[in-house]
Amino acid sequence: MTIAYDELRDQVVVVTGASRGIGRAIALAFGDQGAIVIVNSRTAHGAESTVSEIANRGGRAEAAVADVGDPAEAKLIVEQAVTRHGRIDVLVNNAALNPVAPLLETTWEAWNDVQRVNVGGLFSCGSAAARHMVVQGGGCIIVIGSPAASDAHANQIPYCSSKAALHMLAKGMAWEWGPQGVRTNVVQPGWIETSLNESYLADPDVRLRVTKQIPSRRIGRAEEVASVAVWLSTRDASYVNGATVEVDGGFTAGRTAVVPRRFENLQQ
Ligand SMILES: NC(=O)c1ccc[n+]([C@@H]2O[C@H](COP(=O)([O-])OP(=O)(O)OC[C@H]3O[C@@H](n4cnc5c(N)ncnc54)[C@H](OP(=O)(O)O)[C@@H]3O)[C@@H](O)[C@H]2O)c1
Repeated sequence: MTIAYDELRDQVVVVTGASRGIGRAIALAFGDQGAIVIVNSRTAHGAESTVSEIANRGGRAEAAVADVGDPAEAKLIVEQAVTRHGRIDVLVNNAALNPVAPLLETTWEAWNDVQRVNVGGLFSCGSAAARHMVVQGGGCIIVIGSPAASDAHANQIPYCSSKAALHMLAKGMAWEWGPQGVRTNVVQPGWIETSLNESYLADPDVRLRVTKQIPSRRIGRAEEVASVAVWLSTRDASYVNGATVEVDGGFTAGRTAVVPRRFENLQQ
């Protein structure tokens, strides 16, 4: 843990898609702060592995097994938190799917699966959480976005489309619920090493090409996303609402020019 925020002790924090990767790192980070963490995954095994890790580190957590793409199940995650702990202070909407396939080979079912999980999950969990946050006088929603919200990536168009909708939905939530004390912000990771990309980052050539596109010249760690999510949920970020915070080593700050050569980023 880098900074200890006393205000997060005993706060009730829900993290969707927290069995691995960025969601797991965020759940662990809130656990380290003394928050009560509701760990969501589609499987009991996945959720319990993060719950156990939080407990091993001296924190408090419980599992919430649900598919966030199912509106009824998504709502139950929030209701579980409120029924058992009386409130919900922070929702981290992280769960997402990213199937890789050409658009012409994408079925309606595959398209719809991505939209219902990636965007529908925020609509369902966010609306359920905000209803309680408004009554309790405030709360914080953190949405894990992607550079794919504004850049089309070949063979990932359902994902890109879902992230574009997700970013706009987050802005809409900030706009509509801000007056009632609910802050909604997007954390936009760049290249972060997780199971989502481990197969192609395992190729040294791909890895080199990726890191050359990143001014910080390395792939990020899930913990580096988690620390920003934690900060956004504190009073230190009390006037940050409707923002997108890039955590990407500068990846989206520019583009490597192709011609003329003198414009290329020649630093190694
Ligand atoms: N890694 C990157 O470089 C990167 C870059 C930009 C944005 N992001 C974003 O960061 C977030 C996390 O990505 P990641 O790399 O950590 O992915 P990951 O390693 O594939 O983890 C995805 C998580 O989402 C859960 N999940 C998937 N579908 C779900 C559903 N229907 N209901 C509940 N949970 C579900 C998975 O849990 P179970 O399988 O256990 O259910 C898992 O815990 C995503 O929103 C992604 O778009 C990642």
